[in-house]
Amino acid sequence: MLVGVVGVSSAFAAVGDGAVVARSNACMGCHAVDRKLVGPSFKDIAAKYKGDAGAQVKLEKKVRDGGAGVWGAVPMPAHPRMSAGDVRDVVAWVLAGAPSAK
Ligand code: HEC
Repeated sequence: MLVGVVGVSSAFAAVGDGAVVARSNACMGCHAVDRKLVGPSFKDIAAKYKGDAGAQVKLEKKVRDGGAGVWGAVPMPAHPRMSAGDVRDVVAWVLAGAPSAK
């Protein structure tokens, strides 16, 4: 039974980590889950790339290198000091619709 509980929580580990990564890297200073701030909402991003098999890789590069022109003229800064694992987790979390972040 204990094994079952651990199994369930680890299935959501990457997504949960993504929320922590977003909070600890100031992503939430420019993004909110469900409304536009400086950047698009994470739910809008998830909707835009729904069904796009290349989105994970493309957005990992975008978060790392920064850039503009997809949502408007305002650029997102680069995040060169984030680890590849953190970038992967946070992008997976955004593409999942940023669940359970208030
Ligand atoms: C200084 C403000 C700012 C910060 C900090 C910021 N972003 Fe952004 N982000 C933006 C803007 C502006 C855009 C829209 C860029 C565009 O139009 O191409 C954007 C776009 C995005 C996109 C969609 C990119 C695309 O090409 O569709 C993702 C995913 C994203 N941000 C994730 C993050 C994550 C994760 C972090 C934290 C590591 C973060 N952002 C931090 C401003 C910011």
